Amino acid sequence: MRTNDWFKKMSFYQIWVRSFADGNGDGIGDLYGVYDKLDYIRKLGVDGIWFSPIYPSPNADYGYDISDYRDIHPDFGTLDQFKKVLEKAHSLGLKVIMDLVVNHTSDEHPWFIESCKGKDNPYSDYYIWRDRPNNWDSLFEGKAWEYNEQRGQYYLHIFAKKQPDLNMDNPRVREEVKGIMRFWLDMGVDGFREDVINFISKKEGLPDGLPFLPAVNGMPYYKDGPHIHEYMAEFRKVAEEYDCFQLGEGPMTTVQSALKYLSGPTKSLDMMFGFDHMMADCVYTEYIHRPFSLVKLKKAFSKWQYALAGKAWNALYLENHDHPRVISRYGSERFHRESGSMLAASYIFQCGTPFVYQGQEIGMTNIRLWNIEQYVDVSTKNNFHTYHVKDDIKDRLKRIHLSSRDSSRTPVQWTAGKNAGFSKLKPWFYVNPNYRRINVEAQEHDPDSILNFYRKCLALRRHSETLIYGTYREYFPKDPNIYMYERRLKDIRYLIVCSFTRLPLRLRIPKEYAGKKGKLLLCNYPEGRQLMAEHFKERLKQEVDLLAWEHGMLRPYEARVYRFRFTKDKGVQK
Ligand code: GLC
Ligand code: CA
Repeated sequence: MRTNDWFKKMSFYQIWVRSFADGNGDGIGDLYGVYDKLDYIRKLGVDGIWFSPIYPSPNADYGYDISDYRDIHPDFGTLDQFKKVLEKAHSLGLKVIMDLVVNHTSDEHPWFIESCKGKDNPYSDYYIWRDRPNNWDSLFEGKAWEYNEQRGQYYLHIFAKKQPDLNMDNPRVREEVKGIMRFWLDMGVDGFREDVINFISKKEGLPDGLPFLPAVNGMPYYKDGPHIHEYMAEFRKVAEEYDCFQLGEGPMTTVQSALKYLSGPTKSLDMMFGFDHMMADCVYTEYIHRPFSLVKLKKAFSKWQYALAGKAWNALYLENHDHPRVISRYGSERFHRESGSMLAASYIFQCGTPFVYQGQEIGMTNIRLWNIEQYVDVSTKNNFHTYHVKDDIKDRLKRIHLSSRDSSRTPVQWTAGKNAGFSKLKPWFYVNPNYRRINVEAQEHDPDSILNFYRKCLALRRHSETLIYGTYREYFPKDPNIYMYERRLKDIRYLIVCSFTRLPLRLRIPKEYAGKKGKLLLCNYPEGRQLMAEHFKERLKQEVDLLAWEHGMLRPYEARVYRFRFTKDKGVQK
C-alpha cells in the first residue's frame, strides 16, 4: 500500500551503470562498482537512486533496447548482485527505482522474434505491423518503419530500428507490463522511472504527419495518444498495491498535458520529467543549436513551478544520460567551479524533488572527440548524418560537441590516476582528458569544490520545510543575467540569487527586501565556506542585508542563499 508522498522530501542520484564504476576490472561499469560506491552516494546527501536500464540488451541504445525485462545484463552482474546492491542501499536509507522501458523492446526480445514469424502466432499483435508505412520519421534512425522479410510487413519504431514499438492497445502487452512491474516490486524496488511513457498510445489509423516537420512529424499522433490515461490507470493500480513511486519521462510534454498525468481524476504519476528547460540553448533537445538564453531557461523553470503549485509535484534536474553536460551548456568551463556550483543552487532549491546525474556533482564537462566514428550514441550519429549534412565537417563536429548524449556517458572521473580511477583495464569509452583536474578525489579534499557545494545544497534543502514545501516566486524574470527566486512558508523566506554571467554585476533587490536583514547561508565563493555549518550549529548570528556582501556586487557565476524572517508588521505575510 502506498504510504504517500515520501518522495517529496527526497533527492535522487541517477546512475548510468556502464560508465559509473567498474568493480570487476573489465573496463565496463557494473553493479560491483555500484555496491562499492553506495557510501559515496549516501554521503552526497541523496535519499534514492534511479538506475538507467540494467537489463540484458544488445545496446543499440545502451540499455533502452531491452531483450529481457527480468534479468541483469551480464556486463553489469547478476540478479544476486543486484539484490545485494538493493539490500545495502536500503540499509543506508536509499530507495531504489528502476527504469521501465515499455514503449518498445529490443528487436532481439523473444516477443519480437516470435512476432516476426507470422500473423498467426501468439505474439503477432505485440508490435505495430502494417503492409504500408505512413510518412512518420523516427527520432533516431531514418523513417519510423522497417520492413521485415520474414513477416512480409513493416514494423513501427519511433526510436532506432532495433527498438520496435510495442502495441499497447493489445491487453496482453499491458498485462506483460504489469507483470514486469510486479517482478521488480516483489523483489523490493521502490518505484519506476517510466521511459517515454507519454508515447505508448498511438492514434488509431496512424495518420500521416505534417511533411515539413522532420523527425517529429508523427509526434502529434503518438504523444499523449487517445488511450494513454486508461493504460496509465491500469499501471497505477499495480503501483498502488505496493508502496511504489512513479516518475514519468515526458519528452516534449507541455505543462498542461503533464498536469493530466500528475493531478485530478487521471492522475497516474507522482512526477514527470519535462523538457522545456532543456531547450534554453537548442530546439527539440539538441537537434538545432542556438546561443544559451537565461531568460528562456527561467521562463521554463517558472512555467512549471507556477503551473504545478498546489496541484502536483515537480521533478527537478539539469542533467541526465540524454543531455550534454550542463556546465558546458548553461555555465562556463572557464569558470568551472563557480558556474558548476551556481547551477546546483539554481535548481535544487526550487519546489520539487531534485535529481543529480552521475558526474554532475563534480562538474564533468562535454567531451570533444575529433571524429564522428568515435561517438557511439545512435542519435548522435543520426543527427550528424541526417540533420547536419548541409554544414561543413568542422561545423558538424562542433555541433556534435555541443549536443551529443555521449558527453554524459563518459566514465565517471574518480581520481587523477590511470583511467580516472574508473577501471583497471582500458574503459569501454573515452575518458574526458580533464580528469586530472576534475575528479572526485581532488574535490573530496577541497572544501570549496563543486562536490562539497552539492552536499551543502542537498543538506540545506533536506533540513528545511520551507525549501521543501514553501511556495515559489521568481523575481526579475526579464533580467538576462540573474536568476532570483524565493521560497516561502509562513514567515520564513529563502532568497536564492544566481549570476549566470562571467561579468561582475550589481545585485538587484526586490522591493520588499529593501533594508531587510537576513542570514546568508550559502555562497559559492570561499568566504561562504563555513556559513551553513555555523547555521546548523546555531552559531550563525550575523544578519546582513542583500547589499552588505561585496559592496552589493555579484561576482562571476556567484550563487547565494539567504534566509529571512518576515514579521507580520511588514504587512507582507500571507
Ligand atoms: C528515453 C531515454 C533515452 C532513450 C529513449 C528511447 O528518452 O531516456 O535514453 O534513448 O527514451 O528509449
Ligand atoms: Ca565491469
